[in-house]
Amino acid sequence: MVRIGVRRAAPNEVSAGLLAVGIHKGEGAPESLENAAEPALSGGDFSGKEGETALLYADLAAPRLLLVGLGSRASFTLERLRRTAATVARRARSLGVREAAFVLREPENAGLEGSARAAAEGATLGLYRFTRYKSGGDKAEEASGENDRELEGFDLVLEGGVEESASRGADVGVKVAAATLLARDLANEPSNVATPEYLAGRAREIAGRYGMEAQVLDRAGIEEEGLTGLATVGRSARNEPRFIALEHRKGGDEAPIVLVGKAVTFDSGGISIKPSSGMENMKFDMSGGAAVLGAMEAVGALDLQLNVVALVPATENLPGGDAYKPGDVLRMHSGKTVEILNTDAEGRLILADALSYARRYEPAAVVDCATLTGACHVALGDYASGLMGNDEDLIAEIQTAGEVTGERAWPLPLFAEYSEQIRGVIADIKNSGGRYGGALTAGAFLKEFADYPWVHLDIAGTAYGKKGNAYTPKGATGVPARLLVEFLMGRAR
Ligand code: BES
Ligand code: MN
Ligand code: ZN
Repeated sequence: MVRIGVRRAAPNEVSAGLLAVGIHKGEGAPESLENAAEPALSGGDFSGKEGETALLYADLAAPRLLLVGLGSRASFTLERLRRTAATVARRARSLGVREAAFVLREPENAGLEGSARAAAEGATLGLYRFTRYKSGGDKAEEASGENDRELEGFDLVLEGGVEESASRGADVGVKVAAATLLARDLANEPSNVATPEYLAGRAREIAGRYGMEAQVLDRAGIEEEGLTGLATVGRSARNEPRFIALEHRKGGDEAPIVLVGKAVTFDSGGISIKPSSGMENMKFDMSGGAAVLGAMEAVGALDLQLNVVALVPATENLPGGDAYKPGDVLRMHSGKTVEILNTDAEGRLILADALSYARRYEPAAVVDCATLTGACHVALGDYASGLMGNDEDLIAEIQTAGEVTGERAWPLPLFAEYSEQIRGVIADIKNSGGRYGGALTAGAFLKEFADYPWVHLDIAGTAYGKKGNAYTPKGATGVPARLLVEFLMGRAR
C-alpha cells in the first residue's frame, strides 16, 4: 500500500517525481508556482474545471508539475478532493513515478484534518488494483497507459496550518480506506476461492489482529442454533455454509451496534436458476459480508471505543438433489414460517436469521447490507444504495454517513401495503412479493425479523460494476464499508 506522508513546505521547493496542485476554475496557481503554471493558464489549455489535468515540465525542485482542475470554489467538497487525490495518484503511477506530492487544498468549512483524511482516502482507494491472478504484465492495462510499478509515496504538502492535525487526518484516512480495500479484495475473489470457510478464516484474522472475539458456526452448529434459512439455502452446496460472528468489545456495558452482511459467495438462483448471461457477477453476492468485514478491520485499526458486533451468514446458493424448492415452507430462527416462492430470493432468508440472532445482543442499532434485489438497481441506478428501516433517526444518520463518505444511500418506503404483498398463503409470509416494488417487499420481509432500531441497505446497484469515479475501479467497489465506518465513528464521538 502506498505510504501517505505530510510535509510543510513551499510547493516550489518540494522534491518528488511529480508535484500536483489543484486549481479552481477561473483562479490562478499558488504564488510559488505561478510562473510555472502561467503558460498553461493564460494559453487557455487549462481552465480548472473539475477533473481536468495538464502536465508541465518546469524549473522547480520537482521535475513534473501536474495541474488538476478543482471546479468552482463553491462546489469543492471533500468528495471532490477524494477524487482529485485519486486522479493525481493514478497519474503519478502511470508515469512510473515513485514519489508524488500533492498540495493540499481545503474545501470551505472542511478543516485541515478532514481534508487530509479525504486526500489520503482518495489516493489510497484510487491506486487499488486486483492483480493477484495476472501473470506478468497486463497488456490491456499497459495499452491504456497503466504501469506495473506501484507508487511508493504520496505526500500531502501543507503551505500553512498545523502539521499534527494533517497527520492525524491522513492516518485516519488510511485506516478508513483499508476497510474498503479489504472489502474489495474479498468481493473480487472468485467463488472457488472465497468460500464461506474462506470468509470465516479472514474474519478470524481480523479478530486475531485486534483482540476481537470470533465465533464461527459450521453446518451442524447452524442447524443446532436453528438458523433454518441459512441451513436451507446452504444445504445443497459442497462448500458448506458458515455463520460468522465477530465481537469488538471496547464500549463497556453499552448496548452494541450490530452490522449484518449478506455473504452468498455464489448465487446461481438455485432451483429457480438464473439466466447464464452475467451469472459470473454473482460471485459479488457476498459484497455485504465483505463490507461488514472491511468495516471491522477499520473498527480495530481505529480502536473505536464502542461495542460492535458483525454477523455474516455465508453460503452458496446452488441447485442440486438436496436443494430447497419452490413451495417449501421453513420455520425460521425467529419462529415465523416462510413459504418459498422463488429459491433465488435467498438473501432475505439468511439475513432474516441473522437479524433474529441479533436480538440476543439487545442492540442499540442494527444495520444490514446486502446485494438483495435487482429491483433496487433498477430503481436507483448505479449511484445510490437503497435505504429502508424502522427508525427515522437511524435512517437519517445512515443517509448522512453516506453523504459524507460519497457512498450515497437514498430512502425508500416500507409502507404497510408492502408487508401485505408478502403475506403467505399457507405460511406467515412468502419470500417473494412478485415483480413490482421488489426492493420494498424485500425490505418488508426483513422488517418482520427486526425488533430494534434497524436499517437495511440494498447495495445490488452499488457494490460492483464498471469503473465509477476516479477512486472506484471496475469490479468490487467496497460499498458501503466506509459508510459503516463513518456511522460507527459518529457513534464513538
Ligand atoms: N443476489 C440477487 C440480487 C441481485 C441481482 C444482485 C442482480 C445484484 C445484481 C438476489 O438474491 C436475487 O436473486 N434477488 C431476486 C429476488 C426475486 C427472486 C424476488 C431478484 O432481484 O430478481
Ligand atoms: Mn438470488
Ligand atoms: Zn442473492
